[in-house]
Parts: sequence; C-alpha cells; structure tokens
Amino acid sequence: MTKITKDDLRSRKWFMNPDNLEMTALYLERYLNYGLTREELQSGKPIIAIAQTGSDLSPCNRHHIELTKRVRDGIIAAGGTCIEVPVHPIQETGKRPTASLDRNLAYLSLVETLFGYPLDGVVLNIGCDKTTPALLMAAATVNIPAIALSVGPMLNGWWKGERAGSGTVIWKAREQLAAGDIDTDEFMEIAAASAPSVGYCNTMGTATTMNSLAEALGMQLPGSAAIPAPYRERGQISYETGKRIVEMVWEDMRPSDVMTREAFENAIVINSAIGGSTNAPIHLNAIARHLDVPLDNNDWQKHGHDVPLLVNMQPAGKYLGEDYQQAGGVPAVVGELIAGGLLPHPQAITANGKTMAENCEALRSKNRDVIKPASDPMKEQAGFLNLTGNLFDSAIMKTSVISPAFRQTYLSNPDDPDAFEGRAVVFDGPEDFHHRIDDPAENIDAKCILFMRGAGPKGYPGAAEVVNMRPPSYLIKQGVEALPCIGDGRQSGTSGSPSILNASPEAADGGGLALLQTGDAVRVDLGKGTVDMLVPLEELNDRAAKLLANGGYDMPASQTPWQEIFREKVGRLDHGMTLEGADQYRDIARKFEPR
Ligand code: FES
Ligand code: MG
Repeated sequence: MTKITKDDLRSRKWFMNPDNLEMTALYLERYLNYGLTREELQSGKPIIAIAQTGSDLSPCNRHHIELTKRVRDGIIAAGGTCIEVPVHPIQETGKRPTASLDRNLAYLSLVETLFGYPLDGVVLNIGCDKTTPALLMAAATVNIPAIALSVGPMLNGWWKGERAGSGTVIWKAREQLAAGDIDTDEFMEIAAASAPSVGYCNTMGTATTMNSLAEALGMQLPGSAAIPAPYRERGQISYETGKRIVEMVWEDMRPSDVMTREAFENAIVINSAIGGSTNAPIHLNAIARHLDVPLDNNDWQKHGHDVPLLVNMQPAGKYLGEDYQQAGGVPAVVGELIAGGLLPHPQAITANGKTMAENCEALRSKNRDVIKPASDPMKEQAGFLNLTGNLFDSAIMKTSVISPAFRQTYLSNPDDPDAFEGRAVVFDGPEDFHHRIDDPAENIDAKCILFMRGAGPKGYPGAAEVVNMRPPSYLIKQGVEALPCIGDGRQSGTSGSPSILNASPEAADGGGLALLQTGDAVRVDLGKGTVDMLVPLEELNDRAAKLLANGGYDMPASQTPWQEIFREKVGRLDHGMTLEGADQYRDIARKFEPR
C-alpha cells in the first residue's frame, strides 16, 4: 500500500534540501541540539508529531503524558521519528467563561503548528470534550496523515454501592443539597467519588460522545475510544497507534480520505445509538466544514432521529465507561447496527486501512444489558429533531429524554399530541436566570416555557451550557420537576433534559429570540418541527425597529483580546461555531511551498 517514497516526505523540505544547504543546516542544528541525530532527521524517517493535550491544567487528558511514551515506542518501532508538540490547553469544567471559547483557539494554533513545521503525520491526543473537535478540525484543515488516540474514560465512580457518573451525579446531588438531604461535605465527597482515576468523564457526556465519534468517523484504531485510561489495553493501543501513523504516512492516508460524507452519516447514526451529546452536531458540523463536506442539522434529523438507543449509559441509562468497554465499546455498537441493517455505509474506510464492516461486522455486544441489540433497544428514535420557526432557523432537541411526567403535562392533548403552548419567561444570560427564577413576582407556573438567550457564541461569548434551567424552587416543592427550556446556548452532555437548544442564529446575532418578551405565547409543535412566538408580524417588526434603534441586543463586554476576536469571527452554532472564513483554507499541507 506504499504510495510515497522518502523523497516525498514533507519534512525533507526542511531537513534534506540540496538546493539550500544553508537553510537545511539551520533547520537541522536546532533539532539536533537536544540530542536528536542527523540519522533520525535525514535518513528518510517520517517525522511524526504527537499533539499533546495533556498537562496539569487539563487533568482529563493528563494521562496522555504517560501514554505518549508508548506512542513514541510505536513510532520508533515503525521507523519514524517523534516530535511532541504542545496544544493550547482546554479543560471543560475549569475554564471560565467557557471552554468552548478555546476550541477554535486550539484549532488555530494547531493548524499553524502542523502547517509551518517539518511534520509528516500527527497523533491527535484527544479526550476532554473540546479537545477532540479542536484536534480533528485542525487535522481536517491541514490534511496531513493523522490518527486520533483517546486518553480513555475514568474508571467507574461508586457512591454507597451505586455507580456515580461524572457530571450526572452532581446534577442529582445538587437537588439533594437544595432539599437539605445532604450537607456540603457529602456533596463534595459525592462529586469526588465520580472521578476515581485519570481519564475523561465516565458518563456518556460530550467526552465519551466525541471520543466514540472520532472512532465512528474512522479516525482512531477500532476499539480505541472506550478503553478506560488506567487499563493495560490503553497503553497497548497507544503503541499500536504510534506504529500505525507511520504506515499511514507511507500510504498517504489523509483525514479527507477517512472523514468523507459517508463517514459523517455513519457517525450521526452511531451518535444516536450511543445516546450522544447535543454538542455532537456542533462539533461534527465544524469538522465537516473544514473538509468541505456538506453537513447540517437537517442531516442529523434525517439520518439520526429514527435510530434507536443501544447503549445503556448515564445520563440516559445506568452504566459507565468500564461497562461500555467490557460490553465491546464502539465496535460492538457498530456490529449491532450492521446486524440490524442500520449502519448506512459499512464500507467506509477507517484508520487501520480496513472498512467499518471488516473491523466490526462479526462483533456483538458482550453484555446485552449495557449494549443492546438493534432488535431490542433501550429506546426508539434516539436522535435529534431539527426545529425551526420565527424564533430561530435551527435548534436541536433530543426527544428520547422526554420523561413520562413531561409528556403527560405537555404532550397529552389527544387532539394535538405533538404540540403544546406556553407563556414565555425570558432570561438574558445565566446571571439573570439566577436572580429571577425564584422570585414569586415572576408568576412562573407549570404552563410556562423558560427561555435563555444571550448564551450563544457571540452573546456569552463561546456559547454557555446553560439552557437546561431548573424550575423555581416553589414549583419543585409542588412536584414540578422540569419546565420546557429553549435557548441559544448549549447544554452539558451529562444532563438529560429535553431542552430545545443551540438555537441559531442567536439573539446577539439577529435571531428572532431577541424579539421575544416575557408573557408572549409560544407554540412548540414537535410533529411539524416548529417553534413559534404567537406574536403578530407588525408587532415583531415594531420590536425589531426598537431593538435596532437601541443599538441591537445587549451583550456583556469582552474580557480578553481573544473573546473580542472570537466574537468578530465566529459563526452560528448550527454551522459548527467555526471561525468564518477559516474554511476557505483546505488541504493546506499539500499546497505548502517553503518561503
Ligand atoms: Fe474533561 Fe469531562 S470535564 S472529560
Ligand atoms: Mg461541557
């Protein structure tokens, strides 16, 4: 399968350029200075970058520092030379105001790194939520041979004999704390119990989702996504990943060869089957954009909505990362989908050079309580609806998490079973929500719909995970556990709320949400796929004119230079929240000419 020779290696333009010995010497001496030899740099070994996302600041990915030793061993065993490169840190829960601001920053910096240095291929150290899309987006733009390596999930967390999953357990415990059932110390102990080892979140949140989808897209070795970080198999697959990237360089196998339209359709189906996060459409649409693969939220509904949920993992189900791995991980899910005739493109190629079918067709779930067969799923229709109307062009809803109680309250009118109307209560950002939600003067009752705006890419900035809002405490005490929530922000993948989120365009970017007022009637029709404010057009035009006269939707000031640049350049959530204009730079490594 060798397609290129050593003379075709990109790194030769730096280290072996007979037309410019001066520059060759200059490039060489600096990489020799820490102990690399001329043989390693000049004998025609592919130079492989390890895009290092692990650091003390990024605990979810920190174990990559250990795993990188095995990746190096693999690269060297296969005849490559290894250069570890730092990636701008991203840690989902620690970064203020939100880690999603940093996805595009890490993307930008990794594009510059991979493009401008003597690198022939790259191992992408993925894990924590935004690290996976940031690295895949950069690999897509630069388009040098690339393979992803998950850091792996944490071991299962346990609390009082029950599985305690990262994130999910905190959403539950905060209710117990509010009710006075536990004290602050116990609250903190429960949180710590959910994170018992190195690795990324052990629930089916955005991290497990995106790592699974990196495998579903074909960008990881089969079986790589779900192996828990501390397992020996994690070190072993790190070694195999290092070996494989060297082969991929010789085969000239690039991200654009793997992440095709077919691969994205497979990933959408697999996302439904695993119960993946509502952040997945944002990130996959972004990666696709950088590859010039057409993909939008209609594709998510069309290919994903009717796919059943096969994986029984928190927050939608019971189990955690170790159980997922022991039941067979992504290959078992894919095997079950193929057996059920549900995988659209079994012939899609993957990082090991084989097709999805070749890798997974013979595999089945090893524990049918954790990974179900397609004939006996956890739930039907586990994908997303793409809703539209006069409030937004596109917003995502995961209908499979609608609870029986919610269905009974809002969707039980026999004449109109898929629709409900409610009175809007509008919040401008999370601070406004916290100030007003428990104020009895707001008169919030069980017929209200809570709206969160000013929480999108420009408004927040970065798009905050704040759309799933709790009802006022006086309603919770009356037994109202959830109100319908709609907004232009996002929602944590570890939360199981049936919100309507990622509304695009956002209020701060000319979206209809900016015109909504508390007290307006709003109609949600899940059958028709629409959400509309029932306000006459003249009135809306009036409001729009007033908003314009007031200088548009009000946003908090930027706090850092990057926030300002991000706001100027960022696009809509349904378009992947990429930097507008960045997608015109495609396949740039092949266009590289040294200057
Ligand atoms: Fe980093 Fe969940 S917070 S993986
Ligand atoms: Mg998150």
